[in-house]
Amino acid sequence: MLKKEMEQALNEQMNKEFTSAYIYAAMAADFAAKDYNGFSRWMIAQAREEMGHGQKIYHFILERGGRPLYDSIEKPQEQWDSVLAVFEHALKHERFITKSIDELVNLSRKLDDKATEIFLQWFVSEQVEEESNVESILVKFEQAGLDNRGLYLLDKELGARE
Ligand code: FEO
Repeated sequence: MLKKEMEQALNEQMNKEFTSAYIYAAMAADFAAKDYNGFSRWMIAQAREEMGHGQKIYHFILERGGRPLYDSIEKPQEQWDSVLAVFEHALKHERFITKSIDELVNLSRKLDDKATEIFLQWFVSEQVEEESNVESILVKFEQAGLDNRGLYLLDKELGARE
């Protein structure tokens, strides 16, 4: 059985994951509007992953006898000044999520909730991957350059994401 404090914190994290999905979907829409269809595809895949993260927490709360609660989702930014600005925003956001997951782990330890602590290990590892993925993209921007040719090549490459 989940303690109330843990249940509430997990619900907040579930909301953050769905908010992440919304942010990435908004980024995908901005890319699509600017005909960067590869970057848009990448962001749609990212948004889908975030929905999966939210669902994972939903099922865990239920399994532990808690009540998943859907909260409102903050309106995401609609436009970004450049392709680079989008991915820099994505990295900043992932670092924010990592911090949030770390705080959840600390709470699970404080409450001596081992099941939640173990459940959260998946998210700890996932955040390493999430940050690293965006960091690698930012490195690629440095390598390929931000001129039209560089952006064209990267749009094509990132569009290959399943
Ligand atoms: Fe679910 Fe990208 O953090």
